[in-house]
Amino acid sequence: MTDQNPRPAGRPNLSSEASSGQTPKASRQTPQSSGKPPKRSGQLYFRQLLSGRDFAVGDQLARQMVNFAYLVGDIDTGEAVVIDPAYDPQGILDILAADGMKLTAALATHFHPDHVGGDMMGWSVVGIRELLELTQVPVVVQREEADLVTKTTGVTRSHLKECSSGDVISVGNINIELIHTPGHTPGSQCFLVDNRLLAGDTLFLEGCGRTDLPGGDPKAMYESLTTRLAHVPDQAVLFPGHLYSHEPSATLGHTRQHNYVFAPRTPDQWLAMFGGG
Ligand SMILES: [Fe+2]
Repeated sequence: MTDQNPRPAGRPNLSSEASSGQTPKASRQTPQSSGKPPKRSGQLYFRQLLSGRDFAVGDQLARQMVNFAYLVGDIDTGEAVVIDPAYDPQGILDILAADGMKLTAALATHFHPDHVGGDMMGWSVVGIRELLELTQVPVVVQREEADLVTKTTGVTRSHLKECSSGDVISVGNINIELIHTPGHTPGSQCFLVDNRLLAGDTLFLEGCGRTDLPGGDPKAMYESLTTRLAHVPDQAVLFPGHLYSHEPSATLGHTRQHNYVFAPRTPDQWLAMFGGG
């Protein structure tokens, strides 16, 4: 099973090559100086982790699904959040501990078990429910996804922090903007932090998330890609929810130019190609 929207007929399939096998390093960035007294903005901690390679090693499903989990935090305060901690919460906590970071929240791009764990369509995946048995942190979801997350994972609503588009989650002095991008699921969300867009299954380097699963909506996906994400600059770097392309990240500018989901110029054209009707 894949979370990727099928490529329209007549276009070559370029998807899914093996990853490099290299373990990504935490990136440490110093805020740029502008001549004025610097506004305190935190020192970014950022890791992109591939399932089956960087965590959940030896888990065949994790390896097959090529999910990305992300760690985002503030090196100065030692606080971090995890985005989509499926398959191996203990392994993810171990990575944070080895980096000297402490988990303060889990953020969910959407309710599918390969991102948050739980049971769906015959799968049983470890995720946020097991994470909360290890450490008590809020789970940040879009309001529209809250019911689906509770149903899929068994986590009660009291553990969720239900947010809206435009809300900002702070981790130390690092700010993460939440952008509601329905289409793959009703409450899918992307995270914008330090000019990086963590897009879950809304947008991949090649293709976008499927819209034919329960809760999927092709019209909403078009609006999300072209309108709700329009304020994310071309210089921002796209970090997707799966490794469905050779490279694990690319700029939004490159993606908007080369990803076939941006080829249609009108909603009707888009629906004709991706609407399934
Ligand atoms: Fe998904």
